[in-house]
Amino acid sequence: MNEDSEFRLSDSVILKIESEADKYPARKAAVKSALRYAQAEHGWISKDIVAALARLLDLEPIEVFEVATFYDMFYTSPVGRHPIRVCTNVSCLLRGSTGIANRLREDLAIDFGETSSDGRFTLLEAECLGACGGAPMMIIGDDYHEDLRLENLGTHMVHVCQLSQLFVVSPLRINQQVNLLLQLHIVSKQFFATLFSLRTRRP
Ligand code: FES
Repeated sequence: MNEDSEFRLSDSVILKIESEADKYPARKAAVKSALRYAQAEHGWISKDIVAALARLLDLEPIEVFEVATFYDMFYTSPVGRHPIRVCTNVSCLLRGSTGIANRLREDLAIDFGETSSDGRFTLLEAECLGACGGAPMMIIGDDYHEDLRLENLGTHMVHVCQLSQLFVVSPLRINQQVNLLLQLHIVSKQFFATLFSLRTRRP
């Protein structure tokens, strides 16, 4: 690859990484933050991104890659828009993570390590995510969802759908509970909007 066709990070990502690197005596110390910024923009850490970060931080690509593969919060292969990391470690396991994982598998019609056909969800199995007090739990994107129960799983998924502004019934087999809650949410929004307009209407 010649210099002109080299993958380049965006100016905003470079700016954030440089400001992080300025905080440390060695630029290498900024590698984790650099990976985080790059992933936030690109969704995952490709080989091109590893190489670009290595050039920026004066490192060998392997030094960046080994950090990216050490932490499971970094994705070194493409993932859906909403990566779901379900903790299956001891505390979560004892409090029902197997049932939660099975329900997600069933409703999203994907297994661990797979992405839904519409590219929205990737289901991942995770080791302890440091929130044992809220077991069983999962992380969707960057958001922690704790104290999961089969009965409230639909509510958590609705929250994700709201975040991505998906106020439509999904073509995926997201369970009926999710679809019902979405419908209720839409109806209640319309109800309160109507009520508000009636109350503010001049006599
Ligand atoms: S065991 Fe699941 S968060 Fe610690």
